Amino acid sequence: MCGIVGYIGNKSAVDILIDGLKQLEYRGYDSSGVALMNTDNIDIYKAEGKLQNLADKLFMNRDKVVNSTLGIGHIRWATHGAPTVINAHPHTCNCGGVAVVHNGIIENYKELRAKLEAEGCVFRSQTDTETVAHLIAKKYSQCKNLTEAVRLASLEIEGAYAICVMHKDLPNELVVTKRNAPLIVGVGEDEFIVASDVPAFIKYTKKAVYLKDNQIATITRENLNIIDLNNNSIFFTTEVLPWEPASLSKMGYKHFMLKEIHEQPAVIRNILSGKLRSVDEDIYLDELKLDKDSIKNLSRIQIIACGTSLHAAMIGKYIIESLCEIPVDVEASSEYIYRKNVTDKNTLVIGVSQSGETADTLTAIKQAKSKSCHIVIITNRPDSAMAREADSLLAINAGIEVSVAATKSYMAQLLSFYLLALKIAETKGSADKSLLKSLKEDLILIPQKLEQILSNKDQIQQCAREYANTKDFIFIARGVNYPTALEGALKLKEISYINATGYCAGELKHGPIAMLDESMPVLAILMKGLVYDKILSNSEESKARNARMIALTNSNDVKLDLLFDFVIRVPDVQEYLSPLIAIVPLQLLAYYIAEFLGKDVDQPRNLAKSVTVE
Ligand code: AGP
Repeated sequence: MCGIVGYIGNKSAVDILIDGLKQLEYRGYDSSGVALMNTDNIDIYKAEGKLQNLADKLFMNRDKVVNSTLGIGHIRWATHGAPTVINAHPHTCNCGGVAVVHNGIIENYKELRAKLEAEGCVFRSQTDTETVAHLIAKKYSQCKNLTEAVRLASLEIEGAYAICVMHKDLPNELVVTKRNAPLIVGVGEDEFIVASDVPAFIKYTKKAVYLKDNQIATITRENLNIIDLNNNSIFFTTEVLPWEPASLSKMGYKHFMLKEIHEQPAVIRNILSGKLRSVDEDIYLDELKLDKDSIKNLSRIQIIACGTSLHAAMIGKYIIESLCEIPVDVEASSEYIYRKNVTDKNTLVIGVSQSGETADTLTAIKQAKSKSCHIVIITNRPDSAMAREADSLLAINAGIEVSVAATKSYMAQLLSFYLLALKIAETKGSADKSLLKSLKEDLILIPQKLEQILSNKDQIQQCAREYANTKDFIFIARGVNYPTALEGALKLKEISYINATGYCAGELKHGPIAMLDESMPVLAILMKGLVYDKILSNSEESKARNARMIALTNSNDVKLDLLFDFVIRVPDVQEYLSPLIAIVPLQLLAYYIAEFLGKDVDQPRNLAKSVTVE
């Protein structure tokens, strides 16, 4: 996590740095800082909490900072040490000559720190990053060349990092390097902006150089030079990015999350328009680079993901197994990487990630790739590190998602799984043609059904008001919507901090039912189909323990109004597609509860949108 920005050029650095950091707030927001080159030294400004605190501090010191044309900035998600001013980046060596910002984790920082302390360095923070500042300063004192100092330090550092370094004696030099963390150099006219992600500089330039791992770039106002760890010069190409400066406007909504929830019908229409051209034609998915024989020979699918993407993957498993007759395993990436995995050339491995950066998923994908499996990546960021590992890249095209709580990207991931399952089933002939046709017909109707839910939000707002003051919340479901229960609970806990848990309803009586009493809300996802009656029975069992019962249903059965204290009704939909409908009221419920409680909806505490540490 963390976001870094560096600027060298002829403009005032401070505004560009703050502007860039603002675009990177999704990567962390517990503290921030900048280092600015002054006439004969480096000035450092840091602040705890939101970026605005730093911006305010810099505004108060505008006269002192405005003339600097070289600087580095950082927005932090704390890994080592609390989010205090001392631990905020940039970090410096003892004489203040070297300033460093860093994204990632230095795994051998304890050993390095002990060695540097023995050599006389005095550490002020608890961070791993400070080690890098001292180490580079040591190397610089020996070779008097910042690029060489960074190269020598890189040879000793273990872990993942993107680093941006400046030295007080070098008013026309910025040195940057990376290993398993993103870093892109934006190339302007007599200026360069380096950043963890494109939105930090796209307003200023569309030209960019994607640094590769273990490359070191030396940047002056006039030039960019890249070497590798062996000191070889690297030939690089400058790409013109197909990006437009994203409008990060809330478009009149109070929060990005609410705006992104409302964008879901358009996201679905956009995805379907290219892939589902007619219900009588096969799904158009030429991004899937597997020929017919390879698809027919698939013996197994493994899907790897984290968080919300993991829940989308679980629904993907259900749909693929139902339509394609291929066994599917779904696993949290963080578990996948620390056990022996049995795969062969007929195993398809699918990585799912909104950001395309999640460290656990990236590592898991690299492991699977080393075993020669075909890798499919489902991501919202086709320019990400994970996308670059793909044999088949399914870009979900949900558009930039700002809110830390994923909503529209989840919807787009689900759509990708439906399309993939339909494509495989059509190729294999593994499902009834009339079923496949009816799924396509009903998929086209999903956006308008979501619009009905969104225009009928009052019922959910009312439910939110009635249940906001609870400490705990249980979501139950079965079958294809069990992951919907998990996702509903995740949404609620991450933005409201209510202890919400999703259960498959059949498991309730095997333990969790002990928690039920008149204070516990139980929300049952009751979508018509195979397990409807079963969930109804599980709901009766909960009601008998005096739980406060809420139903989310597409049934018009009036008996539900007797059993449940609150009934949220949604448009009818066939069971296979019901996760697309059922999740939206749960996103809204989480949103309205968090908003009612006055929480920071878009930037919940302790979280970051890109989790780039294991
Ligand atoms: C979603 O609301 C969460 N913030 C989180 O669980 C997220 O889904 C997870 O960190 C995975 O991220 P990714 O999709 O970018 O890999």
